Formats: sequence, structure tokens, C-alpha cells
Amino acid sequence: MAKHTGINNCHKTYIRGKNRRGNWLAVILLRVSRRDFGLCLSTLLLFCLGSVLWQLNGGPPQLLLHVRYYFGKSTFLDDHGPLASRALPFPSQVVYNRVGKCGSRTIVLLLRILAERNQFTLISSDIHNKTRLSKHEQMNLMVNISSVPQPFLYTRHVHFLNFTRFHIDEPVYINIIRDPISRFLSNYFFRRFGDWRGEENHVVRTPGMKDDERYLDINTCILEGHPECSNPRLFYIIPYFCGQHPQCREPGLWALQKAKENVMEHYLLVGVLEELEDVLLLLERLVPHFFSDVLNIYRSPDYRKLGNMTGTVHKQTPSLEALQVLSQRMDYEYEFYRFVKAQFHITKRKFGLRTKPQPQRQSASLHHREEQEEPGETVLENWEV
Ligand SMILES: *[C@@H]1O[C@H](CO)[C@@H](O)[C@H](O)[C@H]1NC(C)=O
Ligand SMILES: *[C@@H]1O[C@H](CO)[C@@H](O)[C@H](O)[C@H]1NC(C)=O
Ligand SMILES: *[C@@H]1O[C@H](CO)[C@@H](O)[C@H](O)[C@H]1NC(C)=O
Ligand SMILES: *[C@@H]1O[C@H](CO)[C@@H](O)[C@H](O)[C@H]1NC(C)=O
Repeated sequence: MAKHTGINNCHKTYIRGKNRRGNWLAVILLRVSRRDFGLCLSTLLLFCLGSVLWQLNGGPPQLLLHVRYYFGKSTFLDDHGPLASRALPFPSQVVYNRVGKCGSRTIVLLLRILAERNQFTLISSDIHNKTRLSKHEQMNLMVNISSVPQPFLYTRHVHFLNFTRFHIDEPVYINIIRDPISRFLSNYFFRRFGDWRGEENHVVRTPGMKDDERYLDINTCILEGHPECSNPRLFYIIPYFCGQHPQCREPGLWALQKAKENVMEHYLLVGVLEELEDVLLLLERLVPHFFSDVLNIYRSPDYRKLGNMTGTVHKQTPSLEALQVLSQRMDYEYEFYRFVKAQFHITKRKFGLRTKPQPQRQSASLHHREEQEEPGETVLENWEV
């Protein structure tokens, strides 16, 4: 519209110049009209520039919006519709395929508070024991997920889902992992003795467990190579990132590579639990419409009281020999963990966050409570040998 006005003005000036009488007058006026013509051209150029700038800014310049304000609302909105109410924050579809015993209950508690505060849909599936699905189940689940009102955050213990395989809009993934032996120990004792939430918690989780399994010494389990303490069951974190392909659950290089690739290509952030506060800080910066204010909530006394309930009762630390056997069996898991941690530290550096050197604790204290859900207060063990 603006461009047209400019051209019309030029035309008028040109005609005006032609209609003048008298030679000398004509010469002067011709000069004037040339100058006018130049003026018109530069005006046109200015409009072109303005239009380019408009497109670069993704909307009308502030000046036009002010103009629109004074001339009523009919000029811009009629053509383009309401801008502000239609635009969704980006990304508006987030999937957190939470890894078991990696602080996920802490995060879900935080998410419940955040969903209300920041106005997004939170779907937290309570299916804990089904991480791999048939092709049909995969498709159903992905169709379900993508029909949740946006912006949404969907979370479940489930191995990576390939949305593009079923031609569904891909969400953005986030996740948190931790030192593989710490995770293993946490799970080992959680299955047997539950957490602080209630005495009977473990009975609910593992009702069929016989006493000789429940009270199985962890060193025996590791050194005698019971299934629970051997591969493929020690190959646990990688499949969450590799995906639903059967080979993703076979301990090996293929699954490791695929998991690394997916971290690079499909995950906005994979944090490590040992640096939980920095994970939360980065989430707050990267996806503020979901995580805005999360660090304040996490540090608040009210939340501390809630979060206090989720630490696993940690009965026993394995012997050094058992730990060494375990870390050998978890070779791939450790390589993946180191890879994720390095990537996480790169992201942290980009945001100007430093990483303090982690103390490598291998204390053999018996009967201590594992403070897995409250790493802000206690240093988490790092078992890497
Ligand atoms: C998962 O747990 C539910 C009960 O919580 C049980 O009914 C179901 O059989 C379990 N599924 C698997 C595959 O273990
Ligand atoms: C998908 O949603 C429907 C209705 O909400 C539900 O009945 C179904 O079980 C869901 N399927 C999956 C795989 O979650
Ligand atoms: C998803 O599935 C498609 C088609 O089967 C495949 O080409 C692609 O590599 C898969 N992506 C991931 C991340 O596995
Ligand atoms: C956390 O729980 C422990 C054990 O139940 C209790 O002794 C402690 O007082 C609790 N701390 C807070 C801050 O609630």
C-alpha cells in the first residue's frame, strides 16, 4: 500500500512539470521536477528498505503499530488476523522420556508446580515398567502424545520414539542421566527397600520378590554374576536414547552410536544429575515458557520438604572388587555417560557456566542414606574408575 502512494506522487509531479507554460519557467521547473523525481525515487527505495526490514523483524515496525493504534484497529488486523494470541511459544511440544532412578521423580514434582505456574499441559504417565513397545503401540502412543493441547510436556519411562517414522510432527526431547553405577545401586536398593515415602513402598513395587532375593548381598549378586547384576540388564541408559529397535537393547557399539547420534540430533538438552542445579538453570534459559523460575522453586523451603520424601534407602556399598567388575560390565554405559557429560559441559560453557571439579568419592560407608534427590546438599557419588 505504501509503495503505491509513492508511485502516485511521482506521477503527479511529472504531470505537473509538463503542464507549465514559458521556456525559462519550464527549465527551472524541469529542474525542480527532476529533483522531485529523485526525491520520489529515494522515497521508494526507503519504502523498499522498510519492507525488507519489516520482513526481517517478522512483523510490522513499531511505528506502523502506533499508526494503527491512532487510526483504529481495522487496517492491519483485517488482513493478517491477531498475531499475539495465535503464536505458540517454541518449542511447544516437549518429550522427557525419563530414565529410571536419575532424579526423575524430583523433576516430575517440579513439573507439576511449573505446569500450573507457566500454563502448559503436563502429561506424566505412570507406566513404569514398559519402556519398549510394539510397532502398533508406538504409533498409538505417538498419535496420543501429539494430540495433547500445546504447549505440552509429556513424560514417561520409555525408550526414544521415532516420530518421523510415522510421519508425525517431531517434538523436542530433553532428559537427565547420572553416573551408571550410582544409578544401578539406587535401583538395586529401591527395588528391595523402597524410599522414604512409606515403609510398604517396596512391597508395592516388587510384590513377587522372595526374601532371599530381597536380601541378596550386592557383592554376591555382582561377583557371582546374577542376571540382575549382569548384561544385558546392566545395559540400561543407552536404550532410552537409542530407540525401539531390538538392537538398541543389545550391549554393543551399534546401540551406543545410535544413542549418541540421537542425543546430538533430537535432544535439546541431556543433563547429568550430579549437576542438577545447572541442568535446571539451562532448562530455564532454553525453554523458559516451561521452566521459568524452576531454580527458585527447587531451592525454596516448601519444595525441600516435598523433595525430602523421595530419597532411596541405601543399605550397602559394594566392595572395591565388585565395583571394578561392575564398571567393566558397564563399559558402554560409561562411554555414553562421558559423552553426554562432555556435551553438557560444552552447553554450560556457552552459557558462561563453569564446572567445578567433581570430587571422586569412593567411600565405603555402610548404611548411609543416598541423597540422590537432593544433590544440592550432598555431593553425589561418582563411581567412575
Ligand atoms: C507392569 O506393572 C503392572 C502393575 O503395576 C502389571 O499389571 C503389569 O503386568 C506390568 N507389566 C510388565 C510388562 O511387567
Ligand atoms: C490414547 O488415548 C486414549 C484416549 O485418551 C486412550 O484410551 C489410549 O489408551 C491411549 N493410548 C496410549 C497408547 O496411550
Ligand atoms: C526414524 O525412522 C526413519 C524411517 O524408518 C529412519 O529413516 C530414521 O533414521 C529414524 N530416525 C531415528 C532417529 O532413528
Ligand atoms: C527429611 O526426612 C528425614 C527422614 O524422614 C527427616 O528426619 C528430616 O527432618 C526431613 N527434613 C526436612 C527438611 O523435612
